[in-house]
Amino acid sequence: MPPSASQVAVHAEALVKTYGSTRALDGVDLEIPSGTVLGLLGPNGAGKTTAVRILTTLLKPDSGTAYVAGHNVITEPDAVRRAIGLSGQYAAVDENLTGYENLYMVGRLYGMNRSDAGARARELLRRFRLEEAADRPSKTYSGGMRRRLDLAGALVAEPTVVVLDEPTTGLDPRGRMDTWEVIGELVADGATVLLTTQYLEEADQLADTILVIDRGKVIATGTADQLKNQVGGERLEIVVGDAGELPKAVETLAAVGAGEPTVDDHQRRVTVKVDTGPKALVEALRRLDQDSVTVLDVALHRPTLDDVFLSLTGHSAEDEPAADPKAKRGKKGASR
Ligand SMILES: Nc1ncnc2c1ncn2[C@@H]1O[C@H](COP(=O)(O)OP(=O)(O)OP(=O)(O)O)[C@@H](O)[C@H]1O
Ligand SMILES: [Mg+2]
Repeated sequence: MPPSASQVAVHAEALVKTYGSTRALDGVDLEIPSGTVLGLLGPNGAGKTTAVRILTTLLKPDSGTAYVAGHNVITEPDAVRRAIGLSGQYAAVDENLTGYENLYMVGRLYGMNRSDAGARARELLRRFRLEEAADRPSKTYSGGMRRRLDLAGALVAEPTVVVLDEPTTGLDPRGRMDTWEVIGELVADGATVLLTTQYLEEADQLADTILVIDRGKVIATGTADQLKNQVGGERLEIVVGDAGELPKAVETLAAVGAGEPTVDDHQRRVTVKVDTGPKALVEALRRLDQDSVTVLDVALHRPTLDDVFLSLTGHSAEDEPAADPKAKRGKKGASR
């Protein structure tokens, strides 16, 4: 039974896809309530693009079912394609055409008449801050501009579900911020978004719910805060100038932190878990300054995807996928 498309935009159950002996997807379930953003988070080779390709009808699963906007991806691929906009890892942009021509062409491909396709192209160019560059060939665009054009292309036909495969991978920080802003606007407009990423920070910024996948399996689900709490949240670190100042530093961090501080006498470093991030950092520095403690170094460590991975699987996100997954699992808990 397909779920009600008005409430659940994407619903997938027990998706399996194998390539020879590689289980790219090994029984993945996922559900995206309408109007929300699901972040599919995982390292290289986790199975993100495979999931995206199945949900966008570009690839058939070996088994399992999926519905997008109420349509079965296997038996109603045309209806699914009409409901989605897809961007990323596919290079849909034609370099020799201008930004305007690219978007106009997409509109015509979707069956819009000339005037509607032109109006829609102009509207999207404005929205993605590409107006000034609209009439030059897109090969002259920066990476960030190209990515925005690609995103705009996914929105031409006003899809109800937008699928973005690693929208910011390879962008510089500025391009990443720009792209986040545009995705944020999409979401504010009520789109349902499936977004894949290798960055916890990105999923944190954009997603209502995060699904962490590793080697074709969902290994955790939750909000960014829930995942971070699973790995122990943020840590505040202070290095003091003199060993004699350590007791005062420990006392201070105990007061602002959310647990027992740990001390590294040799490095004169005190570390504590914090719930309030920068606030705790500011408060700790204020108190230490008041007590004339010399602070040589201070840092707030936010958990990264790698921390989440290490905590959930016992292996780093950067480990090469093992030829034989069982052999790799055997190393669980081993130190890096
Ligand atoms: N056409 C294919 N033929 C053989 N193996 C494939 C094919 N496509 C994907 N794979 C394998 O399936 C697994 C999942 O790949 P997938 O592209 O879905 O990962 P991903 O999470 O998108 O990674 P990335 O972050 O690098 O894009 C990998 O081990 C990959 O090598
Ligand atoms: Mg991929």
